[in-house]
Amino acid sequence: MTDQKKEIAELLAEKVEALEVEEIENMIEIPPEGSMGDYAFPCFRLAKSMRRAPNQIAQELAEQLRGDGRFSDVRNVNAYVNFFLNREHLTSDVVSEVLKKGKRYGGSDLGKGQKIIVEFSSPNIAKPFHIGHIRTTVIGNSIYKIFDFLGYDTVRINHLGDYGTQFGKMIVAYRRWGKEEDVRREPIKTLLSYYVKFHEEAEKDPSLEDEARATFTRLENGEKEEHDLWQWFRDESLKEFKYVYDLLGIEFDSYAGESFYSDKMDRIVDIMKEKGILKESDGAQIVDLEEYGMPPALIRKKDGSTLYITRDIAAAVYRKEHYNFDRNIYVVASQQNLHFQQWFKIIELMGYDWADQCVHVPFGMVSLEDGTLSTRKGKVVFLLDVLNNAVEKTRQIMREKNGEDADIDEISKKVGIGAVIFQELSNNRIKDYVFSWDKVLNFEGETGPYVQYTHARAASVLRNAGKSAERVMSGEGTFDMSCVTGDTAYELIKLIYRFPEVVREAADKYEPSVVTRHIIDIAQYFNRFYHDEHILVEDEAEKQAKLAVVYAAKQTIANGLALLGIEAPEKM
Ligand code: ARG
Repeated sequence: MTDQKKEIAELLAEKVEALEVEEIENMIEIPPEGSMGDYAFPCFRLAKSMRRAPNQIAQELAEQLRGDGRFSDVRNVNAYVNFFLNREHLTSDVVSEVLKKGKRYGGSDLGKGQKIIVEFSSPNIAKPFHIGHIRTTVIGNSIYKIFDFLGYDTVRINHLGDYGTQFGKMIVAYRRWGKEEDVRREPIKTLLSYYVKFHEEAEKDPSLEDEARATFTRLENGEKEEHDLWQWFRDESLKEFKYVYDLLGIEFDSYAGESFYSDKMDRIVDIMKEKGILKESDGAQIVDLEEYGMPPALIRKKDGSTLYITRDIAAAVYRKEHYNFDRNIYVVASQQNLHFQQWFKIIELMGYDWADQCVHVPFGMVSLEDGTLSTRKGKVVFLLDVLNNAVEKTRQIMREKNGEDADIDEISKKVGIGAVIFQELSNNRIKDYVFSWDKVLNFEGETGPYVQYTHARAASVLRNAGKSAERVMSGEGTFDMSCVTGDTAYELIKLIYRFPEVVREAADKYEPSVVTRHIIDIAQYFNRFYHDEHILVEDEAEKQAKLAVVYAAKQTIANGLALLGIEAPEKM
């Protein structure tokens, strides 16, 4: 597909000596309205070198370029040269590209040979997989998909929180109040109730905390009884997590969690000592970060136990050595900003020149309508309940609309789960938001079901077109696009044309919502097109040209949804 912006920049560079193609490309703007053309070039910066008023320069350039067949018009408005592309050319170019690339449209091999680690989800064992985890899970999965689509060699890691002093508490609580059959029946909810009870009781009897610490030390020393309990909690929890991942269609390449690094930390602490960055403070080992405007990082406690941050440092070193990444991305809540700043700095101080390849991708908080989430107090909305609810609600809506369809189970699963994911990925990730059932399940407006429905509508147009559509979709032949150059069709085509650029932008910003918003736009313009144009007309050539546009829109929406981790049903 032709890079229109670049072509215009090249043309301009021939006329404007003072600027390089690349500079011109960066200066070219997309006007806010179609009536002002498809691209605009501001001439202010040329005034000095060309010794003329910007308006005059714009006028001269417009006159010189007007005759070029690539444009239907080139006009000057004040100091701008406005370019109107030849609609028919662009439409044919875009449609044939989508037909040729299909599922790959929007992707590329930009990242070939580069390895990217995306760490996401990383829930804590024996704690609920609650609504607070959904953000890292779906944002991370989408970021992985976007990089994968751009040809990067990607590795998905789930850094399970399966280690730390809380397991001392869990074991103490289980021994005092636990029942094996309860844990087997409903592991996470049961374990959570023990955890909550531990905190209630520890307020009355602080000696429980000491007992928990001692128990954790036994676990760290590999005592069989503690280790077996821990292993059992881990296995049961992972079963539940995997059930949720299956529902969401998410997979990981590695579940190496915090415990995986328990035997890799001595070496890390030794390196810190060698580099002279470790200090003793009250018997504990710390790295002083005052010089960098941060509080000290506690690396090893007085009793010898290590911390969350120590494990993160060990994990990064391991990942560099094991995977040799080019980039190591962490999709973790913004509450942990300081934690990541601290240990990225420590990595640098340890002399690792790859410190700057580690990237923290933060996101805002989810809160409930009546306050924040708290695992300690047991105030949680379980992700599994949210997903099941969304599917059930969708089933009701589908039943009211279509009656008892044979595919109703499958479709309500795709749409219900898709609705939850889509809503998570609709806004800038950094924004805090309030979780509300009404919003998640609202099927009107800029939602997942709306976009999926648009996709299904396009699919149905193609189905109804029978043989004519078959020819279009076979990817053979060219189409006479002169009959689909109306404003709505053209706006739709331009959005489809921009899709590959949007995918790259989403990768650059680690921001899936860029894709989400773009496919909402495509869906809206497709629906306008569908409304404004009679598609299944008598004239075969015209019909096929229009069907080709329908197909291009449908494929682009499907590709966008796939990048978000959402399925695109053919029927709804
Ligand atoms: N398990 C942690 C939590 O749920 C998140 C882990 C984030 N990843 C990391 N490498 N620190 O809060």
